[in-house]
Amino acid sequence: MKKALLLCLVLLMAGSFAFANGKDDGTVTIGCNIYSFQDNFMNGAIKPELEKYAAAKGVKIDIVDSEGQQAKLNDQVDIFITKKVDVLAINLVDPAAASAIIEKAKKANIPLILFNKEATEDGVMKSYDKVWYVGTNSAESGVIQGEMMVADWKANPAWDKNGDGKVQYVMLKGEPGHPDAEARTKYSVKAFTDAGIGVQQLALEADPNWSTQFGNDKMAAWLTSSFGKDIELVICNNDGMGFGAITAMKAAGVRLPIYSVDALDQALTHIEDGELDGTVLNDGVNQARATIDLAINAAKGMDVTAGTSWKIDNGNTKAVRVPYVAVTPENYKEFR
Ligand code: GAL
Ligand code: CA
Repeated sequence: MKKALLLCLVLLMAGSFAFANGKDDGTVTIGCNIYSFQDNFMNGAIKPELEKYAAAKGVKIDIVDSEGQQAKLNDQVDIFITKKVDVLAINLVDPAAASAIIEKAKKANIPLILFNKEATEDGVMKSYDKVWYVGTNSAESGVIQGEMMVADWKANPAWDKNGDGKVQYVMLKGEPGHPDAEARTKYSVKAFTDAGIGVQQLALEADPNWSTQFGNDKMAAWLTSSFGKDIELVICNNDGMGFGAITAMKAAGVRLPIYSVDALDQALTHIEDGELDGTVLNDGVNQARATIDLAINAAKGMDVTAGTSWKIDNGNTKAVRVPYVAVTPENYKEFR
């Protein structure tokens, strides 16, 4: 009797797995994209950990390159749905285009984990009970970067080259409309004004690709511009653009205070070499792990945080937010 019951149970479970992924080997398959394989952080920090952690968890992950085109991503999602993946893990190209993806997932009744680029359309996360977000609290990166800069500014009076008590800065901004780019731009500067220090923006340029080439080109142009000699601080919304700015400064034989965000290995090397004053750890390892953990649970129809230590924040965003950490010349070795 007991044996018959067990057999029934096993058959039932096998059946439900086969039903869940349309295949019959019981393996969870995750349909995943990266908005662009050209992106330093996504390709260098997030993608390798998605692959590694999925393998460790015994699930299949199919990661495609959306090449910076939302239309391409929409097609990729259609293909994943046709292939009957068990769950989608999606890195939006356009943060204002989440609703299209959510509708597709909802129609196909496939759970959806959005990661890294938070949806900006109002209330969109509430439009489907099987969509969640994994990322960070964007503002936190700007606040931490700002606090580092303010502390160093106060400790180095010579950084105020013209002695006017204000910070003359240039800003390399990431993708316009991207919550990380917007929040970093705002909160990094706000730290100065909150501390009673005046600011003057000499230039700001934004790059949807957050790229090293862009950082290099803009910094090189700024250094030879009419205000080139007035720059006292270089604020970069990510390491990638910062790397380019560092190269441009070295080529011009100048060394201005410079800060970024992400804490990629190369950034740690720049800190070690005295070429970067600080960055902020954007914890790609834990963001990738949370994405996979939630995806597996969602595919199995379980509570998404079951058996994990991730916390979903309250409110409308249904998000797991991995904390940022300040990385300085004092502590960078801990992040190797
Ligand atoms: C940010 C990261 C940037 C870039 C961007 C892409 O979190 O700091 O370097 O990768 O995501 O969405
Ligand atoms: Ca000044």
